[in-house]
Amino acid sequence: MTVTLTQPTGPAHTRVLAYGAARGENAVPNDDIVGPIDSSDEWIRQRTGIVTRVRADAGTDAIDLAATAAAEAVAKAGIDPSAVDAVIVATISNPKQTPSVSAIVADRIGANPAAAYDVNAACAGFAYGIAQADALIRAGAAHYAVVVGAEKLSDIVDPTDRSISFLLGDGAGAAVVGPSDFPGIGPTVWGSDGSKADAVGMNHTLVEFRDGTAPWPTLRQEGPTVFRWAVWEMVKVARRALEAAGVEASDLAAFVPHQANMRIIDEFAKQLGLPDTVIVGRDIETTGNTSAASIPLATHRLLEEHPELSGGLALQIGFGAGLVFGAQVIVLP
Ligand SMILES: CC(C)(COP(=O)(O)OP(=O)(O)OC[C@H]1O[C@@H](n2cnc3c(N)ncnc32)[C@H](O)[C@@H]1OP(=O)(O)O)[C@@H](O)C(=O)NCCC(=O)NCCS
Repeated sequence: MTVTLTQPTGPAHTRVLAYGAARGENAVPNDDIVGPIDSSDEWIRQRTGIVTRVRADAGTDAIDLAATAAAEAVAKAGIDPSAVDAVIVATISNPKQTPSVSAIVADRIGANPAAAYDVNAACAGFAYGIAQADALIRAGAAHYAVVVGAEKLSDIVDPTDRSISFLLGDGAGAAVVGPSDFPGIGPTVWGSDGSKADAVGMNHTLVEFRDGTAPWPTLRQEGPTVFRWAVWEMVKVARRALEAAGVEASDLAAFVPHQANMRIIDEFAKQLGLPDTVIVGRDIETTGNTSAASIPLATHRLLEEHPELSGGLALQIGFGAGLVFGAQVIVLP
């Protein structure tokens, strides 16, 4: 071989520079949805901690939510949108298989011609996206990346389904990742368990729907199976993310788990032995479970309500359909 290829390297460190958020326009309280599932406001509050969830107008889609959140994050990061050269959108609810949400979002926020692709990792999608943005920048493949979790889950719920529909909301959360003088994104602990693929996901295929052999596909889950997996297996993943980052639970300023169920969040906090000084994201109470959007939405809210968290460490962990999971410790912007 006579020629040697150039292989780029990037900066040694990355961090999250800023967050943006967009929630569905409408607050939908438990009483509005309990009829078709023979449930009650009390049952939903006790079993999930949800009081109300946000859902988007018919005319608002996941792309609109994603673009609003991404534009806020870029503005807050104080960078020119044209400096963004990678846009990664995690979503499972785009009703079009192609084109991607990310390419349209990149164009709308002024980042055209950034590299753009969607990630299908359900409720772990945002943590997956952060892992990728960090790796792309440190490898020299991008300078500034926008990572968005965006979902309009209300389009893929069956109002008569008791297993998951009442949990779900619509929204998008975004983060700008860029170069840093210090390590701002810890090692990602991530993985999958496809042997449990049937535990949560769509109940039918689009082909079955086309052929008239099944109704419009909607989300279903084996709630108790996912609950047990989350409580037992995900705590181990959270501990591994702390270890990999070289920090203790008591070093954290915040803990932002996927907003799946308040009981799961409480159990995590207990099993991790989080001291009272660690502020826990509990956005689920008024936003519901927004899958890939839940972690950045919860983080955005924590930073608004507790600006003193800025510069502190946050442990984030996402888990869901696949099954897939991802966790890392980050420095809050
Ligand atoms: C879905 C979930 C809230 C259900 O709560 P749960 O405590 O596991 O409830 P169970 O399914 O064991 O059912 C308990 C009882 O409530 C009833 N029930 C189930 N769903 C109900 C509903 N939506 N409304 C009212 N009652 C319901 C059941 O029939 C059962 O009644 P029984 O005791 O008379 O038999 C919970 O399992 C959960 O949050 N799972 C994990 C979700 C998650 O992390 N997903 C990740 C991907 S997003």
